[in-house]
Amino acid sequence: MSARPYVIEEMISAKAIAARIEALCRDIQKEFAETNKLVVVGLLRGSFVFIADLVRELDLPIEVDFLEASSYGDGMESTREVRILKDLRGAIEGRDVLVVEDIVDTGHTLNHVTQLLRTRRPAHLRSIALLDKPSRREVDFRADWIGFEIPDEFVVGYGIDFAQRNRNLPFIGKVRFT
Ligand code: PRP
Repeated sequence: MSARPYVIEEMISAKAIAARIEALCRDIQKEFAETNKLVVVGLLRGSFVFIADLVRELDLPIEVDFLEASSYGDGMESTREVRILKDLRGAIEGRDVLVVEDIVDTGHTLNHVTQLLRTRRPAHLRSIALLDKPSRREVDFRADWIGFEIPDEFVVGYGIDFAQRNRNLPFIGKVRFT
């Protein structure tokens, strides 16, 4: 599949992403204004670029932790079975937690992860996704903050891969098969 030739067209520029992150951080700071220390949880692997930019823009005391969940493997279709490949290092009971995701597609991943984390009784649990594809949703889930709502396009870049490639593009692009 990855051998199929394709081109990438820019969909959301690096500049537009940076501006949106600034606005999102102003909102998040209001929501967590009273926090002692916010645990910012990145979902690997796709969120690694977004969380790096997000935490550097957040003017709050934070801790960073990671959880790896996967439902796609190297394919383009969700298996709908979310596997936890790597759990958090720290406990979150009684803590303020922000889960950071690159994209919500069918919704299975973030729905599963937030349900799992809620069982650990955090004081306050919120989620943010850079991209949202509501037309693909299979479960009733909406992140608390969304960067951009996008149509059902195959997107790459800014942490998001196609068969593990293109995660290092500084912008969000759409894949066009040629
Ligand atoms: C991708 C993406 C999200 C998830 C969204 O992860 O990073 O975590 O799919 O899809 P969903 O809403 O349909 O569940 P993937 O399993 O490809 O792992 P990755 O983050 O390591 O690329």
